[in-house]
Amino acid sequence: MSSTAALMPLTARGARPLAGRVRVPGDKSISHRALILGALSVGRTTVTGLLEGEDVLATGKAMSLLGATVARTGPGAWSVDGVGVGGFAAPPETLDFGNAGTGSRLVMGAVAGCPVTAMFDGDASLRRRPMRRILDPLVKMGATVLQAAEGDRLPIMLAGARDPLPIVYATPVPSAQVKSAVLLAGLSAPGETVVIESEATRDHTEKMLLHFGATVTVVPDGAHGRRITLKGQPELHGADVVVPADPSSAAFPLVAALLVPGSDIVLETVMTNPLRTGLIATLREMGASIEEVDAREDGGEAMADLRVRFSQLTGVEVPPERAPAMIDEYPVLAVAAAFARGTTVMRGLKELRVKESDRLAATADLLRVNGVTVTIDGDDMIVEGFGGKGRPPGGGTVATHMDHRIAMSALVMGLATERPVAVDDAAFIATSFPGFVETMRGLGADIG
Ligand code: S3P
Repeated sequence: MSSTAALMPLTARGARPLAGRVRVPGDKSISHRALILGALSVGRTTVTGLLEGEDVLATGKAMSLLGATVARTGPGAWSVDGVGVGGFAAPPETLDFGNAGTGSRLVMGAVAGCPVTAMFDGDASLRRRPMRRILDPLVKMGATVLQAAEGDRLPIMLAGARDPLPIVYATPVPSAQVKSAVLLAGLSAPGETVVIESEATRDHTEKMLLHFGATVTVVPDGAHGRRITLKGQPELHGADVVVPADPSSAAFPLVAALLVPGSDIVLETVMTNPLRTGLIATLREMGASIEEVDAREDGGEAMADLRVRFSQLTGVEVPPERAPAMIDEYPVLAVAAAFARGTTVMRGLKELRVKESDRLAATADLLRVNGVTVTIDGDDMIVEGFGGKGRPPGGGTVATHMDHRIAMSALVMGLATERPVAVDDAAFIATSFPGFVETMRGLGADIG
């Protein structure tokens, strides 16, 4: 998605109760990882329920440029014939990851463990995001940065290591992307690669490595952390991956149903990995009616149908240690907080500043242009709710800054405010949630 493409404004208006059952698209994190691990395996990987959003399609294209055979066999159904650990070929052109931090950073890790050179690039949003956090450990493992834009940003030319070294790496920020990049590079290293994180982050890479045949051990480390050990140079075998619905996408219809009076919806097959469900825990503390129906497991990941009903919410304090389990959900939680009774305090949001946009500033602006009082105090965000006093006024046009989650959060807000809420550009929604508008309309929402 280019920043010069025509803007796509969109408006959400006060809705009648939302009703019905929907399945939101496949999980973005798992979809990226399925394609990458499929490409690093011997034999065929089949993926069903893959998220066919722009971010994941860019990773699929990168895997074929690196030598894997990636094919779409049906809606959401893909096959990957891999090249094996260390087997990537030099790509004949730049790997363009568009808007996708996850794709670019995980593939840098995978390339760092192979003796090939690749050029990484992305759109204007991705070019602004920090890459030093990925390059630091990869250089320690033997990769070389041949070229980078100012501030170690994309475009970056990375030469992978011929003989990668295993490292013990304590991640300086709680980031599943950094952890995953080190583990993916560590696949080609002899001995054990160890990642220590002081706050546990989403563990899909660890789980999927096991599923593809690697030896990975995970033990607790400190109050909230983990120590992950990967045995190097495994032979990964192609596997079947069933991608559950993305809890970070489900968050939008979920919050919409909580806010629009009379709503009662079911979100099908949503992944309920506890390292992804901080939003659900927080909303329940606020008084939300979210019921898990038919909880089950597939490929090591937990999932359930979620029945969500309109609820009167009350403000809460969200502790900083919950941030990794809901890092992508703060914008939509802030929208829910604007409708709650009393104040909601969200602590420890530093990482929000380096997402697809400065999400801390963009979220505060989203609420302010719609008449809500928001304070940013260091890394904390404080939202004054309208609950008990009516509804937030709305009536604003939100600047989305190439950020899909800001766009969707604003449109959810507009379904329940006094006046409509508009966004300047809804185009980036396609990076993670193709069909968002149709899905919401199917539940009865007025977005157009
Ligand atoms: C992701 C990790 C998170 C998250 C992103 C997806 C992943 O980023 O914000 O949307 O799939 O590993 P960080 O690792 O930078 O926190």
